[in-house]
Amino acid sequence: MFSRCCKKENPLREGAFISELRGGVGSFLNCCVRREELYILIKSQYMGWQYLVDGADRLALDRTDPEWHRTEQQRTEWLKGSQLCLFLSLSKSRRSDIPRAVGAAKAAGQRGSPWRRMDTSSRGMLLHKLADLMERDRLLLATLETLDTGKPFLQSFFIDLDGSVKTLRYYAGWADKIHGKSMAVDESFMCLTKHEPVGVCGAIIPWNFPLLMFIWKMAPALSCGNTVVIKPAEQTPLTALHVGSLIKEAGFPPGVVNIVPGFGPTAGAAIASHMDINKVAFTGSTEVGQLIKEASAKSNLKRVTLELGGKNPCIVFADCDLQLAVAETQKGALYNQGQCCTAASRVFVDESIYEEFVRRSIENVKKIVIGDPLDPQTSHGPQIDQQHFDKIMDLIKSGKEEGARLEYGGAALGEKGFFIQPTIFSGVKDHMRIAKEEIFGPVQCIFSFKSPQEAIERANSSQYGLVSAVFTTSMDRALSVSAALETGTVWINCYNALHAQTPFGGYKMSGNGRELGEYALAEYSEVKAVTIKLSETL
Ligand code: NAI
Ligand code: MG
Repeated sequence: MFSRCCKKENPLREGAFISELRGGVGSFLNCCVRREELYILIKSQYMGWQYLVDGADRLALDRTDPEWHRTEQQRTEWLKGSQLCLFLSLSKSRRSDIPRAVGAAKAAGQRGSPWRRMDTSSRGMLLHKLADLMERDRLLLATLETLDTGKPFLQSFFIDLDGSVKTLRYYAGWADKIHGKSMAVDESFMCLTKHEPVGVCGAIIPWNFPLLMFIWKMAPALSCGNTVVIKPAEQTPLTALHVGSLIKEAGFPPGVVNIVPGFGPTAGAAIASHMDINKVAFTGSTEVGQLIKEASAKSNLKRVTLELGGKNPCIVFADCDLQLAVAETQKGALYNQGQCCTAASRVFVDESIYEEFVRRSIENVKKIVIGDPLDPQTSHGPQIDQQHFDKIMDLIKSGKEEGARLEYGGAALGEKGFFIQPTIFSGVKDHMRIAKEEIFGPVQCIFSFKSPQEAIERANSSQYGLVSAVFTTSMDRALSVSAALETGTVWINCYNALHAQTPFGGYKMSGNGRELGEYALAEYSEVKAVTIKLSETL
């Protein structure tokens, strides 16, 4: 499936209909439909290697297949130079935009449809089947994810794929365990509740964890019996499209899953304001989260769950396991090139261990291997695109100008691609831009504190409240501090410990609602109370 080749010429020649994936990554991708197959050539300019991903025919860009559609709108976007701009509806109809995808989803979920009539245990089996197919295609999916995002291949392979498959299986298990209650009510009545699907659920996906976020939203939606219309981020549609072909192969009824690559202000906004979408789940910027809630309010008051930004505090006490705290907080700050909503962007360290903590953090950061994301040795790749690169570099500049001490990095790397050195600032003060704004880049900011009360107050003085972490060997202290922190997640002596079973979401402007775990099921279900009048009292 994945072989290295040394052909110098482009084997795709004429007929190639897409070229350029991400010049900035140092790689590009050519795709070509030939004999009803898709071939992808990956040329890594950074290392001078070429890879040929065969077996990619399962990307199913078979243009004779009526279930895959191209639209006028996407043709336009294509000409603007974006990547694979295709419209997939698993409906047979040749309909071509968001309203039409919603129509397909609505029809697939109506009463009496194969999806609504399907046994809940069969629904679970279908989700398991999809997980099996993703495991089969793990190498291809991880390769596509790395190509699209620039994240190191081994991270795609082990973290993103593992998390996606486990989440699918977790919700596959729930499909036949979703039920209501019966309750004692006043007078001679009895009441029972049923948990029913919400209907058509929209999902708007970001570019930092394209596959994982896609599955976080789709899996609970389908487990609860909904149908979905999903828009991947414009930068990163590849894994979603491949999973689309796997959904078809698994045997989901047509129209249950509709994947519509497109841009935010057009396709994304159309999802947020559509009158027949009853729920939308979004992960991305706080600014767009506000637009989505506004669009919901102005259209049909659809349910909205938002997973937005963070400015996540870690509090490192003097009694901690110092090496563990150094490693975990740095991993938290720099993982995925810092492009995580959970990024550990404010590390508060007890002043008595501050200097040693900074010294060890600098030692630790030197172990990072920056390079071609397809190289298995690489642990740090490029940022997603030019715009984002510019935003991060501007914030690094502001840190230097506002008087933070640059301990390491702080510059772009190489001529090609959007590589930024892992960067450490010490002596960071709360008023600085790097202390307040979400950087979403490889920048670790280290602050010092004198007392636990002060640390908690400063940790909480943010509009955000997504995650936090506490490092101490005193469980008593860890639990007291975790109770005081205003965040949806508190990690104790660990970081980025995310599991399918554990709810995830934010306080304050980090969002609304919870993804993952049993809690997410409530976001995708309506509760119906059925009240029965009892005429006989025995
Ligand atoms: P964004 O919020 O614009 O994009 C995320 C998704 O929303 C994409 O699918 C995009 O097409 C869609 N979108 C954009 N505008 C929309 C609109 N008007 N209506 C509906 N959907 C829309 O994020 P962007 O511009 O890629 O990154 C900006 C900043 O947002 C980053 O620097 C970072 O701070 C934050 N961000 C946070 C993420 C998280 O995991 N919470 C993920 C991505 C970005
Ligand atoms: Mg944006």
